[in-house]
Amino acid sequence: MVKKNTCIFISGYGSNLKYLINNSRNENFPIKISLVVSNNKKAKGILHAKKNSIPYLIIDTKKRNFENIVLRELRKYKISLICLAGYMKIISKKFLNSYGKMIINIHPSLLPKFRGLNTFKRVLKSKEKKTGCTVHFVNEKLDGGIKIIQKSFFINKKDNEEIIKKKTQKLEHRAFSEAIIKIFRYN
Ligand code: GRF
Repeated sequence: MVKKNTCIFISGYGSNLKYLINNSRNENFPIKISLVVSNNKKAKGILHAKKNSIPYLIIDTKKRNFENIVLRELRKYKISLICLAGYMKIISKKFLNSYGKMIINIHPSLLPKFRGLNTFKRVLKSKEKKTGCTVHFVNEKLDGGIKIIQKSFFINKKDNEEIIKKKTQKLEHRAFSEAIIKIFRYN
């Protein structure tokens, strides 16, 4: 199997990145993680790239030409899939068009419910029965592209924000890899 060169964008902890790296070691998993991009030089997730000798790029999104720098690296590593794994910046329309290949994102809610930030707080406040995570294609609308996979669980009365976050992230770690397998199943 020829693995697709993949770039993971992160901003923080990088637990999704860690699981993707582990799964990508399996010869039947369709991607190779060839590059990690972080907009935060202090992101803990960068350590996973370092430990696994994966090239990484730290970007300064305040710089006007940062997207061109990223695009150049994506071309250099022949990247055909970008996974946004806790990347806290919006992908611009210009970037989407210039890159022209697949970008997927993981979001900690059952989209289209609770797009955007502070998801867990809003889920609790609106007294949802269920919540979960969604992996979806990225388009110009925030958390708005076509769904690839969704995983859910029932909320217990005692669940607080912290517990919901833990349960959601546990599902995310499986959902991201399953979504990637689904995308490449027939390729
Ligand atoms: C995840 O919950 C993801 O859904 C959200 O940011 C979080 C990132 O977690 N977009 P991690 O950095 O992968 O641990």
